Amino acid sequence: MQNLPFGAFVVSGCMIVYVIFLGFASYSPTFVPENTYGVYHAIVGKLPKMYQQSETKENISGDTDTSNELEPWDKCVLPKYDVWDDQIIPYVNPDRNPIKDCDTSFKPFTALKNSSWSIVNKNKNLECKARCHSRKSDRANKIGNWSFTPGSVDCEFLEAVCSEDKKEVYGYLHSQVIPKPPIEKPNINTTGLMQFDVFVILLDSLSYSQGKRSLPRTLSYFTNHMDGVIFPYMNKIGENSRPNGVPIWFGKSLEKVDRSLFDEKLIPPDWSHKYFCNTFKDNETSLFSEFHDYGYRTFLAEDWAEGTMNWPNCVGFDKPPIDHFMRLPFQNAYERRNQGAAITQKHLKGGKLCRQTHNTLLDYMGQFTDAYPDQKKFGWMWAIDLGHNSENGFTHADKDFHNYLIKHRKQLENSFVFILGDHGLRFGDVRNTFIGALDVNNPFTGVSIPRILRRTTDILSIMSENAKNIQSHFDTRATILDIMKYQSARSFAETEPYQIPGEKGHSYIRKQPSTPRNCRTMPVPLEYCICQFNKTKIATNTANAEAIGKALALAVNAQIEDGNFADKCIKMEWEKTISLLEYEHKFRGATLYRVTAEMKEPSKAQFRASVKIVDGNIKVLGMVERSNKYGKTADCIKSEHHRPYCYCKNQKN
Ligand SMILES: *[C@@H]1O[C@H](CO)[C@@H](O)[C@H](O)[C@H]1NC(C)=O
Ligand SMILES: *[C@@H]1O[C@H](CO)[C@@H](O)[C@H](O)[C@H]1NC(C)=O
Ligand SMILES: *[C@@H]1O[C@H](CO)[C@@H](O)[C@H](O)[C@H]1NC(C)=O
Ligand SMILES: *[C@@H]1O[C@H](CO)[C@@H](O)[C@H](O)[C@H]1NC(C)=O
Ligand SMILES: *[C@@H]1O[C@H](CO)[C@@H](O)[C@H](O)[C@H]1NC(C)=O
Ligand SMILES: *[C@@H]1O[C@H](CO)[C@@H](O)[C@H](O)[C@H]1NC(C)=O
Repeated sequence: MQNLPFGAFVVSGCMIVYVIFLGFASYSPTFVPENTYGVYHAIVGKLPKMYQQSETKENISGDTDTSNELEPWDKCVLPKYDVWDDQIIPYVNPDRNPIKDCDTSFKPFTALKNSSWSIVNKNKNLECKARCHSRKSDRANKIGNWSFTPGSVDCEFLEAVCSEDKKEVYGYLHSQVIPKPPIEKPNINTTGLMQFDVFVILLDSLSYSQGKRSLPRTLSYFTNHMDGVIFPYMNKIGENSRPNGVPIWFGKSLEKVDRSLFDEKLIPPDWSHKYFCNTFKDNETSLFSEFHDYGYRTFLAEDWAEGTMNWPNCVGFDKPPIDHFMRLPFQNAYERRNQGAAITQKHLKGGKLCRQTHNTLLDYMGQFTDAYPDQKKFGWMWAIDLGHNSENGFTHADKDFHNYLIKHRKQLENSFVFILGDHGLRFGDVRNTFIGALDVNNPFTGVSIPRILRRTTDILSIMSENAKNIQSHFDTRATILDIMKYQSARSFAETEPYQIPGEKGHSYIRKQPSTPRNCRTMPVPLEYCICQFNKTKIATNTANAEAIGKALALAVNAQIEDGNFADKCIKMEWEKTISLLEYEHKFRGATLYRVTAEMKEPSKAQFRASVKIVDGNIKVLGMVERSNKYGKTADCIKSEHHRPYCYCKNQKN
């Protein structure tokens, strides 16, 4: 990586990044302490009319003379930087380890092996019992009766509790994979397909640069021993976890793509929030259902009971189309009231046990990796807890992922292995740095292909070429579909680009189309675009800066009115413009700005957005973001979409 002059970048603030410090999106309330960020939900749907670009102006550039010159959006200057730049150093603490005082000599008192539970602790005074947990619904378990005699059990998740002198001293959740009988006749005729297992390790909030800093052992093993290729220029496609995960699983976007900067139509989301949230997704085609059609056994493990599909009140799956599903029985037992015993619900907290929830996922994923020697497998683990709130959340777990890769190296050698982030770290002051601001939009992506294909195909060299370009999660999805359906029928020897019908991305285990890859040609909302643009800081005490700041306030008020919350929330009034960056390039005669403005008392709310001025008219582009915390000040309304814009008239609580 080449080092660019950083100071210059920082001062001129060189990217389009909608920095959102707020947003406690897609996360469990248990992680929202007093220091709450409030709930943020990515904004979906149309802007009020007055902020929409006219949709009739097609062929606006006339296609005749001047426009032969490439517009700034038609290329993508990728961010090249040092992941260990000075500015990031103050935020990096390799010593952070929430379980540094854990008891390394501790051994579980009970064991679950081969569908049989046993007491393995020698203490004669221990009285142990165990019970099964299985999924009843997305929010409750079917809980078996306690059994006091060790022996056979027929469930994948077993809770064990031991007491000594009538006092409970031990609670533990065991897992095992109980293989299902072979899929006799897959829905798709798989004869003649070259099929490989596919495993995905998704680490929530892991960015490219953070991966480089935090997971040296895992990545050294992954790139050296497993010939894994890392894609440094992955662009997220949604604000938080769900609008990044759901597009990979289902191929559907959950956020609009605002194209008004190009005088193009807004691309609405494929699924509205309402549809996503209120309708069971069992019958939607997903990677899980499709892999099953291709004869695969499927697996999903998440370490947060609400999960990507449910938070905060969405229905998710009725009957998950997944053979081995860890989240519900396990996390329900661990997190939800009256599901697990009190002592069980404490056992992974407090750092006494050298085990955290990501270890439980890796255990179960390992059991799945070892299972089904005669069947194909698609496994996906999504570890939310480690990195969601901290720049330094992953470091101590590096060895755990490394160990998983080593322990299962025989199976993984014959598999596609993806290490992914969904987005980067969304919280904290680190986002004020160039790297932190980039990270949030630049999730980690690394791919290792089966050993045999490394020699017999061109995939490695093709992937290395594709890794020099900007990619999006839609391309990762296309890649997984390619593995499932297309390359598998061609012995993975096909190199020419292929447009998978109905898909928005292009597989990167083959050449991608030669059309320029940038945030105009790809389905990436501009607010997340990692392509670089030069910007200059300009004065904030001018009439222009004031007018731009006021336009921002107007846009926020329009959102509130649009949601019919004007009776509950105050009308925002511009107080001052805090920062104003002007893009060096003109965009079709428009000057583009990035503005942050503060509203008058009592809200003191700060908002940020991109704004364009053309012929003296100010237009706010895309999403307006809240850039300071709003805490409980918006509690009078429930809409996740509108809360960042709201300061309640009634601040009772
Ligand atoms: C835009 O221009 C292209 C080629 O010049 C033409 O085929 C197309 O019909 C035009 N579209 C509109 C809406 O005028
Ligand atoms: C697992 O249990 C079954 C039946 O309980 C037994 O037949 C089998 O030998 C056991 N396998 C191993 C590896 O212990
Ligand atoms: C659990 O115990 C209750 C009461 O003894 C009994 O009615 C029930 O059938 C038992 N459930 C199972 C699954 O054995
Ligand atoms: C599956 O495909 C193979 C090869 O393409 C063909 O020989 C076989 O008859 C097909 N089987 C069925 C059940 O259609
Ligand atoms: C899915 O489709 C089946 C068959 O059409 C139907 O019985 C079932 O109710 C559907 N499930 C959901 C959750 O919509
Ligand atoms: C940004 O400015 C620098 C220095 O003036 C220049 O070298 C570079 O090409 C510019 N980058 C873009 C994307 O215009």
